[in-house]
Amino acid sequence: MGVIISTVNMKGGVGKTTLTVNLATCLAKHYDKRVLVLDLDSQISATLSMISPHDFAKVRKKRRTLSYLLDNVITPNPWSKLDIHDLIYPNVCNLEGLELLPGDIELYDEYLVSEMLHGKALQEQGKEFQKVWDDFELVMIKQLIEPVIDDYDFIIMDCAPGYNLMTRSGIAASNFYLLPARPEPLSLVGIQLLERRIAKLKKNHQDTQTLNINLLGIVFILSAGGLMGRYYKQVMKRVRDDFYPHQLFEQSIPMDVNVAKAVDLFTPAVVAMPNSTGSKAFIKLTEEFLEKIKVSQKQLVTAG
Ligand SMILES: Nc1ncnc2c1ncn2[C@@H]1O[C@H](COP(=O)(O)OP(=O)(O)O)[C@@H](O)[C@H]1O
Ligand SMILES: [Mg+2]
Repeated sequence: MGVIISTVNMKGGVGKTTLTVNLATCLAKHYDKRVLVLDLDSQISATLSMISPHDFAKVRKKRRTLSYLLDNVITPNPWSKLDIHDLIYPNVCNLEGLELLPGDIELYDEYLVSEMLHGKALQEQGKEFQKVWDDFELVMIKQLIEPVIDDYDFIIMDCAPGYNLMTRSGIAASNFYLLPARPEPLSLVGIQLLERRIAKLKKNHQDTQTLNINLLGIVFILSAGGLMGRYYKQVMKRVRDDFYPHQLFEQSIPMDVNVAKAVDLFTPAVVAMPNSTGSKAFIKLTEEFLEKIKVSQKQLVTAG
């Protein structure tokens, strides 16, 4: 069964999307893994980092984006013809094994979700609306990816900043979450806030289902050098005191203009500029990622 991972941080612009697409690409390119990227952010940055706007316009015109599946979950339509297999964009960047479920600028209508859940609460007399909402949140993304879990080694979900329904549902469907962050004091507060929210999410669902979501690790995105670089190193030291070593990736990702420029080519840096400093860091990080997954799975087997 595929390992499901979400890339999260309540802050925007910290490198979630860049990490998602480069890690996914490295796994397919260097480790022959079958990987699906799910773009859960209506800013569609992951989508446009992997396919061109022209290709995106074509899939959107045919409604072959995540929004089609969400519509079906929110207002089920017995006549709908497509399933998740029809929407997956294969061989991204001509890499066998790298696939994308394109996102959409309009993912779902909160009003319709609310209306549908109110209807459900009425049907299931006596069930509190909050409970109905929590249950929906738990299964929304899980149900959607269920038919393809076995087709992949990894399903990686790029979450939006903040903590919206898609993010919560993505986290609830995940085995692990990855947390890219800049080593800045407020960023560290953000990490702790997110951890608290995930603990709450687990608690909300504890009577119905045990959610086995664990932090795979914090990935630091470092400033290149100069005074900022030195300051980041000082904060990193503090972080090492605050977190357990297994909660951190040893490999960090340096700011590298090539990584930023790759977005212009609608191709992840590890394909567009494989010899750049940033790409090399992503390749090393992928090795560490696989090692961490292996260790966690061994622990699960031992515990089970
Ligand atoms: N290692 C890096 N080097 C250079 N630019 C980067 C790096 N990581 C991210 N960026 C750039 O920073 C911006 C924000 O990154 P992004 O991955 O979109 O963040 P998020 O998904 O958290 O909002 C983007 O323009 C991206 O190209
Ligand atoms: Mg993003």
